[in-house]
Amino acid sequence: MEELLDMAWRAYDLAYCPYSKFQVGAAVETIMGERFSGCNVEVANYGCTVCAERTAMVKAVSEGSLKRGGLRHVVVAADTPKPVGPCGSCRQMIEEFANEDTLVHLSNQKGKIAHSFKHRELLPYSFGPENLL
Ligand code: THU
Repeated sequence: MEELLDMAWRAYDLAYCPYSKFQVGAAVETIMGERFSGCNVEVANYGCTVCAERTAMVKAVSEGSLKRGGLRHVVVAADTPKPVGPCGSCRQMIEEFANEDTLVHLSNQKGKIAHSFKHRELLPYSFGPENLL
């Protein structure tokens, strides 16, 4: 968990957020133990902006490391008084790859996790792949 937390904070430093100036870093770990980090990437039209959590998941999927049900941990890092929880779109993408045990950890201080939640607590009664597949 320490390494995953570190990866999220290293990604935080890379955030591309010239419009909001709100940096976010994230890191995910798969059930096979592979880890990927991501930062938020903003775009001038705003709507194309990608959150840190989704950047990390997309990297994991596109490297062939994250499949349905394969998400073990998600760490979200932001330098804020209150820890930042993933937005609705990120929760929905987490749902796509989550399993019963997937945990989401929030960190607002380097080296520390402030809260850990089961993904299912963050998105109850969700719509997910099992509704379609
Ligand atoms: N943001 C994230 O990257 N993750 C979150 O969980 C919340 C919001 C980003 C999107 C945007 O670049 C900036 O934070 C302000 O909303």
